[in-house]
Amino acid sequence: MRQLLWFLAPVWSTFALAGLTEAQVHPQRYFYDAVVSDSAIASQVGADILAKGGTAVDAAVAVGFALAVTHPAAGNIGGGGFMIVRRRSGETVALDFREIAPLSASKTMYIGPDGKLTRDSLVGYRAAGVPGTVAGMAEAHRRFGKLRWRDLVEPAVQLANRGFKMPRGLAESLRDSADVFRPFPVAYAQFCRSGRFYAAGENFTQPDLGRTLERIRDHGAKDFYEGETAGLIVKDMVAKGGQITAADLKGYRVVARAPLVGKYRGYDVITMPPPSSGGIALLQMLGMVEGDDLGTLGWNSSGTLHLMVESMKRAFADRAEHLGDTDFVSVPVTQLLAPDYISRLRKSITDRALPAKEVKPWGKESEQTTHYSIIDIDGNAVSTTYTLNGSFGAGAVVEGAGFLLNNEMDDFAAQPGTPNLFGLIQGEKNSIQPRKRPLSSMTPTILTKDGKLAMVLGSPGGPTIINTVFQTLINVVDHGMNIQRAVASPRFHHQWMPDAIRWEPYGLGADLRKAMEAKGHVFEERARTMGSCHAIWTTGQGDRQVGVDPRISTSGAAGR
Ligand code: GLY
Repeated sequence: MRQLLWFLAPVWSTFALAGLTEAQVHPQRYFYDAVVSDSAIASQVGADILAKGGTAVDAAVAVGFALAVTHPAAGNIGGGGFMIVRRRSGETVALDFREIAPLSASKTMYIGPDGKLTRDSLVGYRAAGVPGTVAGMAEAHRRFGKLRWRDLVEPAVQLANRGFKMPRGLAESLRDSADVFRPFPVAYAQFCRSGRFYAAGENFTQPDLGRTLERIRDHGAKDFYEGETAGLIVKDMVAKGGQITAADLKGYRVVARAPLVGKYRGYDVITMPPPSSGGIALLQMLGMVEGDDLGTLGWNSSGTLHLMVESMKRAFADRAEHLGDTDFVSVPVTQLLAPDYISRLRKSITDRALPAKEVKPWGKESEQTTHYSIIDIDGNAVSTTYTLNGSFGAGAVVEGAGFLLNNEMDDFAAQPGTPNLFGLIQGEKNSIQPRKRPLSSMTPTILTKDGKLAMVLGSPGGPTIINTVFQTLINVVDHGMNIQRAVASPRFHHQWMPDAIRWEPYGLGADLRKAMEAKGHVFEERARTMGSCHAIWTTGQGDRQVGVDPRISTSGAAGR
């Protein structure tokens, strides 16, 4: 035995050096169905629904509500997001339940008397857009649900009322985020016990949230938008200087959109259209690199990195200039994805890094979002990314209702041309208007090949979402990685401005850095990880391979 351990030691330390454990390199495999999310508890909720005969959409609704309890940094009922559904029949839809600006919103609402941006788009009640999640879950269920609504909300009710064992990762993140909650006594009491922080393993109950979920369970989305919960939201907004009114809530609508569909090396890439920038940028970047053999150039080689980084710069420059809510502004989607234009972009990539200020577009956000992927026994697939924007959103909990408000208003260009919290420069098309949806980077995506489901993926991470999905997809399709290795591998990010490549710790060797610097690239150290991509790869029933991103310690998969 000792000899065996000695023999295995070098193998083990190789994984350890790369920041991986062996378990993270082998995908978990299921036969019939699979759910993967930032919360192992929520994934189990989804798997239980599938085992009861629910569809992937039923499971997605149950996971969406469960994450609002177990993953409060981003799981939510006070935020919004996007869900791509692909049914086994091939039918697809992109449900847009993104937040909208309140009716009283205006272009200059976050500019102070000194002409400078205030922090009101980020912190507190004025930062919140009208939430879309509850309406989004209800619409998904109305279209594709098989089980009863109340049975899908019930597990979240139980988790909030009975509580669950506080995972170490959540206990640490609540303690680390104390400053976010402290200005808001209701939130500080709920998440930090007003300073007597929760320890890992303690039971964590959220009774106000439990009561809200019970009302949603019993009365549907109507409760949130017109009923008792709506009343609590409006009361708190009036008391605390927020802008969401009863009319805002009553007027909220989910939009069912046609997903964008592009091709990459024989795969159909089904992804999110505006008001997310994710799908357009992803398809542009894939288009720019498709003519090159990245597999032969090699993973983490200077040739591959240079091409990918240069594609990122060009896609993000277009994002800044052209993208916004298509219900309000015209976005040249067809032109941005036209093969001629993509080929011109590719031709503009030389052996040298093009300085960002010289990237000419054709003609912002937080790190904490959350993504989950689901495939059911029949091969129906759901890719959902939803968010509060910042970690724990605006930091404020609706009094008596127990849920956090988003700070999604910061995803607008509060002052076009001025970098937002994430250094993203955004243009006029994403300026604030009543009822408009702020531009997003969320990129829920599904891949098929020859009409058969192949991969479901997505990620949190603000602007890094798009590049995380781009890299994960290329890791599998071009570099032949299994799905677990593909999601666990180190990531890099370029968003046009600032003109620097950000790199995850341990992802960049000294030689590679030198080779890239010789081409003119600039690096910026980034201590934190990027994204949390939860993905499922499948070759058909009997083979559901799951990639659980190890960057969030509470993550987990479940299935049969
Ligand atoms: N709030 C992050 C995003 O929508 O991209």
